[in-house]
Amino acid sequence: MSRPDANILPSQRALFDIPGDVTYLNCAFMAPLMHSVVAAGEKAVRVKQHPWKISPPDFFDLPNQGRELFARIVGAGHNDIAVIPSVSYGLGIAALNIEVSAGQEILLLEEQFPSNVYPWRQKAKDTGGRIVTVPRPPDGKNWTTAIIDTISRHTAVVALPQCHWTDGSLIDLVSVGEAARAVGAALVIDATQSAGALPIDVKAILPDYLVAASYKWLLGPYSLGFLYVAPHLQNGRPLEQAWAGRKGAQDFARLVDYQDEYAPGVKRMDMGESTQFHLMPMAIAAMRQILEWGIDNIAATLAQKTQGMAARADAMGLRPAPENLRAGHYLGLGFPAGVAGQLMERLSEQKIYVSVRGNSMRITPHLYNSDADVDNLFGALESMMG
Ligand SMILES: Cc1ncc(COP(=O)(O)O)c(C=O)c1O
Repeated sequence: MSRPDANILPSQRALFDIPGDVTYLNCAFMAPLMHSVVAAGEKAVRVKQHPWKISPPDFFDLPNQGRELFARIVGAGHNDIAVIPSVSYGLGIAALNIEVSAGQEILLLEEQFPSNVYPWRQKAKDTGGRIVTVPRPPDGKNWTTAIIDTISRHTAVVALPQCHWTDGSLIDLVSVGEAARAVGAALVIDATQSAGALPIDVKAILPDYLVAASYKWLLGPYSLGFLYVAPHLQNGRPLEQAWAGRKGAQDFARLVDYQDEYAPGVKRMDMGESTQFHLMPMAIAAMRQILEWGIDNIAATLAQKTQGMAARADAMGLRPAPENLRAGHYLGLGFPAGVAGQLMERLSEQKIYVSVRGNSMRITPHLYNSDADVDNLFGALESMMG
């Protein structure tokens, strides 16, 4: 019989370079790199000191390893994953390929991250479509129900996250996906604030596109990300016409035998220079470690951390969202207008790092956080709010 805490991981702080006096509770802003990831990056930078050791297969092997690992994180096949530099880029591909007609609706969430808003505003402008924003539900209410209630026969696109970047409000993507498919709408997911920290299964959600940046919960470098494209859309239009995405590109001697045919799968959507010689080895090292820990275990461990913090916040009258409405790796605490910003500055003077989004303090731990970090945060909040 398994113990109830069988999937709670011990502190992994020794794998990171976080000084003892720093309380870093801001993974949703940017993850710190592990020692192993920095080592992979340093080694990768040195490779180009000796370019004579780089051979044509290296251009393809590295991104293919990255695809393979990201595919495992989201339950996809490696041929379903394109290499991209940013979420904006991946959602640019989605907006380019999804058809929207005049009068049709593109459904977004209130205060959604701008990378998943601007491409749709442009799309609406170009097509005569209309943005419909689903407002944040009142406290204690479920955003999923509000989204499903807003989907109608006019909906062309449902573009949203798995959990909201400001406070971790959780969306049930399987149910939203069913509702979207029922009216023939495309489902586009920005999983940047969840991939690596929450289980995601594209086989159950069936999104058309799903994108994630590497530098948050994938614990990787900045300027790199991955795009899942559903098999039926993989012959769509790329944003760029990169040579490496063409059939036979491995044969460098014959690159000027120009090819109209693309490489198999979704490689045609890859960014130019998708090898990412310096960044990809870092992303690979980080994703390997994530898979070794196990995403279910990461999620359970982070959920346990935020539950403990929510109980302490509750005792201080800080109104944390109920567990069933927020992602386990996220805790948002509501403060009266203006208060959270002042507190954040005072916390950072004590080397305690959180974020403020709107009137909510966003606390996002990872496996490097200890009980002492939680004590530091709540000790400081208690003395400040006195
Ligand atoms: C939900 C979400 N998506 C995307 C990004 C980053 O987008 P981009 O890669 O376009 O800079 C962030 C950064 O905070 C985010 O929170």
